[in-house]
Amino acid sequence: MWGGRFQTQASELFKSFNDSLPIDYQLVKYDIAGSIAWAKALNSIDIINDFELIQLAKALTDIEQAVENNLDSILSSNAEDIHSWVEQALIQKVGDLGKKLHTGRSRNDQVLTDVKLWCKQAVKKLTRQLKQTHLLLNEKAIVFSDVVMPSYTHLQRAQPITFGFWLNAAAQMIARDIKRLQSLSDLSDECPLGASAIAGTAFHIDRDKLAIDLGFASATQNALDTVSDRDFVLDLLYCSSNSLLHLSRLAEDLIFFNSQEAGFVLLDDSVTSGSSLMPQKKNPDALELIRGKSAEGLALLSQMQIATKSLPLGYNKDLQQDKQLLFQSVQSWQQSLAMFNQVIDTLAVNKTAMRAAVENSFANATELADYLVDKGIPFRDAHDQTGRLVMLAEKKQYYLHQLTLLDFKSVNNAIEEDIFNWLKVEQAISRRQVKGGVGSHAEMSRSALAFQITDAT
Ligand code: ARG
Repeated sequence: MWGGRFQTQASELFKSFNDSLPIDYQLVKYDIAGSIAWAKALNSIDIINDFELIQLAKALTDIEQAVENNLDSILSSNAEDIHSWVEQALIQKVGDLGKKLHTGRSRNDQVLTDVKLWCKQAVKKLTRQLKQTHLLLNEKAIVFSDVVMPSYTHLQRAQPITFGFWLNAAAQMIARDIKRLQSLSDLSDECPLGASAIAGTAFHIDRDKLAIDLGFASATQNALDTVSDRDFVLDLLYCSSNSLLHLSRLAEDLIFFNSQEAGFVLLDDSVTSGSSLMPQKKNPDALELIRGKSAEGLALLSQMQIATKSLPLGYNKDLQQDKQLLFQSVQSWQQSLAMFNQVIDTLAVNKTAMRAAVENSFANATELADYLVDKGIPFRDAHDQTGRLVMLAEKKQYYLHQLTLLDFKSVNNAIEEDIFNWLKVEQAISRRQVKGGVGSHAEMSRSALAFQITDAT
């Protein structure tokens, strides 16, 4: 490609160190799309004539079809990267005409165009996958909206919620992942092609027209910024790492719910594995790997940040690494999402264990304080009196609802028989009708279920 300037060949070691074909061959489809669009742009300024354009476009399409189901065939070549591979393949097919294609173009704007097109496709696929997860979580949230369980702060039983409420919380996290991805697709909708090496191409092509031809909204604004910019890579890596982080936290909760200590859920055999030694074991490997892969997602983002933070403007070879990080992160994300879906879809729920955990606890202590507030007692005093009742119950090895009315009255005489109903788990839940509250989720799910039933009948 640049033989003229060099007297000796690159060493084998340098070649294998430098070549990016083993990674960027995955961009072949986008490199060809960019090349066809560039050929059209060259035709519009008469660098190539109409007949030559037809020949080039046909040859490029043929190359694409030939490798479509055989990407590995590219790897046997000794081209440095996918851009030089496509150019070589083209010259092999159409001879000297192929040598005209690189007029006014650089691999610097070419690689960016390819990666941005790849990202657009990835965003579409990921959005579809995230929407499936979102739908599944919301469906299950409705199904389990009456299954009570404790919520946790500091891993201590806090207040009664439902398993449906937990699933809906997970759905909200995924909804934010979807929104974040959507905002990213607007941000990276400027086409780099025509920025050329660094100063913009010297050939008077209409870059906005070229951008639209490739499915972008417009061309980038400054060629120097264009070839330096990897924000869209960082943004997608951030989306990926943050969504993996969400999946990891949800996995962590489920690992605990599935532990013998909690026993709230039972992971399906299909997503667990055994121990080579301990015959009783059924380990939550799928969830642990989701947690593990999220570490990879976070590391890949910071690797890209570190790689770019001190780079001077312009293209520097360090940037070649971006694709490996991006592809790996997106792959982990897609795999983790698919695995998470399967775990949720096959999860068995132990309602009895969940109810026992919330009933055998002080998760209704806030209810008692609120009851006292209802009797006109200032909250601070109500909190203090409830604390004393918790201490009394603990001394008797009881929970609050097991105390006698006399016990309650020993702390505050205003407490009446209705306290026992007030302290019930269902009451604690249905009292939280505020927007975003567990009671309003339960209520909405009940109407959704009723609607589904009438709909089906
Ligand atoms: N393979 C290179 C990459 O992935 C393409 C750009 C090469 N540009 C250059 N000036 N050497 O970044």
